[in-house]
Amino acid sequence: MAPTAYVQPLVQSTSVFKADLFKGKVLFCTGGGSGICKGMTESMMRHGAHATIVGRNLERLQQSAKELFEKTGQQCLPAQADVRNPASLKEAVAKTIEKFGRIDFVICGAAGNFLAPISGISENAFKTVMEIDTIGSYNTVKATIDHVRAAKGAYILVSATLHYSGTPYQVHVSAAKAGVDALSAVLAVEEGPHGVRSNVISPGPIAGTEGMDRLSPKGSDGKSGLGIPAGRLGHVEDVGNATVFLFSNAASFITGQVLPVDGGSEHLRTQF
Ligand code: HXC
Repeated sequence: MAPTAYVQPLVQSTSVFKADLFKGKVLFCTGGGSGICKGMTESMMRHGAHATIVGRNLERLQQSAKELFEKTGQQCLPAQADVRNPASLKEAVAKTIEKFGRIDFVICGAAGNFLAPISGISENAFKTVMEIDTIGSYNTVKATIDHVRAAKGAYILVSATLHYSGTPYQVHVSAAKAGVDALSAVLAVEEGPHGVRSNVISPGPIAGTEGMDRLSPKGSDGKSGLGIPAGRLGHVEDVGNATVFLFSNAASFITGQVLPVDGGSEHLRTQF
């Protein structure tokens, strides 16, 4: 069956949540210095949360923290750490507690990606992505869980949709993100009785991000929506709005779930 012609206009997602929804709450976000995770952090801060953004590049973190403060009026702490290094993560957590006194929400978002064939990728390259995405998410959970339990808070782990089937040149990320999905499921089941929720957001093609620039041959010029059921590429705000919903009490009975934010792209394989 031939794909339908897409006629929808470019629709921008807008938040429907109260601006003070997360007043007094604190977000800890790895990978928050750039891209989708910076956007997720901005959405949380626009709804009243303070935030710590964690990454390897301190200069970029400082610049992003300044921008996020200027855009939202909420405080943002830049904390340098490599998610592969548990000691550096623990230090970032300690700085967060020292500054804000609590951690309610955690986004495990630090990730690495590039295109490489299974026969060509080096052992170290495969291991590097597993270490950043999967083990890094585990290290982040381990470093924060006591505080999140105390706050009866929640986690969002950032995954992808490419491992739902075989995606060429993505063996490293596919294996790593499958592990991320599994980690969140166990976290939800084990920590549910402690009042902690965990869900996964799986962004699809989001315009203007490093992931799209690296992975899409068409680039992220915003004109590549053909073939996506929603008729457009995603915006970072689409992922931000999903984040606000999943961290809000509106989602208090939702845990252990995977939410693709992909304009329906995931379903294309079965529909056409
Ligand atoms: C093949 C590569 C490579 C490439 C690095 N390597 N880049 N192999 N193609 N393009 C190999 C190196 O040769 C080395 O192996 C090993 O990977 C480790 O590389 P380093 O540079 O030493 O590691 P590091 O500095 O830790 O870099 C990590 C990185 C890097 C992931 C490799 O590219 C990075 O930090 N990227 C920025 C983050 C990023 O990509 N964000 C976008 C995520 S998007 P050897 O054998 O030579 O030692 C995302 C969404 C997915 O995750 C879903 C989208 C739809």
